[in-house]
Amino acid sequence: MRAALRRALLALAVCCGGMAAWSGSAGGQGAAPPGPAPVPDGRLVAFGRTLFLDGCATCHGSDLRGRPGLGPSLRGAGAAAADFYLSTGRMPLANPTDEPVRTQPAYSRPQIDALVAFVGSFGGPGIPAVDPARGNLARGMAAFTEHCAGCHQVVARGGIVTGAAVPALQEATPRQLAEAVRIGPYLMPNFGPGEIDQQQLDDIARYNGYAKHPDNRGGWAIGNIGPIPEGMIAWLLAAVVLAGVARVIGERAP
Ligand code: HEC
Ligand code: HEC
Repeated sequence: MRAALRRALLALAVCCGGMAAWSGSAGGQGAAPPGPAPVPDGRLVAFGRTLFLDGCATCHGSDLRGRPGLGPSLRGAGAAAADFYLSTGRMPLANPTDEPVRTQPAYSRPQIDALVAFVGSFGGPGIPAVDPARGNLARGMAAFTEHCAGCHQVVARGGIVTGAAVPALQEATPRQLAEAVRIGPYLMPNFGPGEIDQQQLDDIARYNGYAKHPDNRGGWAIGNIGPIPEGMIAWLLAAVVLAGVARVIGERAP
């Protein structure tokens, strides 16, 4: 009986330790801070064209009209999509059928600026403005709950929807967040200003900044690992308590 209890406690310790290590490694460094979009100039566009022919044209075509089965047309995709996909490392894709996921960007910031200028020169939405400092936290949480939490969870820690892994939003900069909202990457829907206006966008960006480092007011955060693992720990603790109670009751029996 005592051994069983010890085993249960050990399992609990291993579990908590593992969870803590995991949640620690999950929080990475943010990408480059948002800034004003560079003014596209001829030299920048020409440099971008060279990079594009080298790294993107095989799938998107040298005329940006796309290639069947390999990549969509980028005419009208705009600077916003280019900046989002490149600054989050989603492009260049290794395999056209992969879901683009966030990774280390393949290009330096000046190279990204050049590619963005080149793709943007074929039309489409520019990089959206966003200012979390002008946002309101409470309204941001309400808007996030309404529009985003269904997929990203209210704590912005991601999840799964049919056909796609929904990323956690800890690493997204305000600019990348605004771009994602406006362009709707992969299976994510896009939201125009009619659904999410500029003020709400600022509110949501403010909320996401907060959700990266929430205050610990009450509750039992366990490194903010999310409701499901936290719930599992609660069950484990309950099991240990139950085992203890059972032992006490058992000893009283004749
Ligand atoms: C292996 C093929 C492949 C390569 C190489 C590739 N892409 Fe893509 N790209 C795709 C596919 C497939 C999609 C569609 C993915 C999606 O819907 O999210 C895509 C989507 C995009 C989009 C979003 C389009 C939109 O309408 O929102 C942009 C922007 C983009 N790519 C830019 C680039 C750039 C710039 C490069 C070069 C650095 C590049 N891609 C290299 C296959 C590729
Ligand atoms: C239907 C489900 C769904 C909804 C609703 C949704 N998203 Fe997404 N979101 C996704 C998916 C799937 C991806 C991954 C796309 C990819 O990998 O290209 C994503 C990607 C993102 C990213 C990129 C994260 C990164 O680190 O690169 C951001 C930022 C984002 N979403 C913000 C939002 C915000 C803000 C809202 C609410 C206004 C929202 N999303 C609503 C499914 C959703």
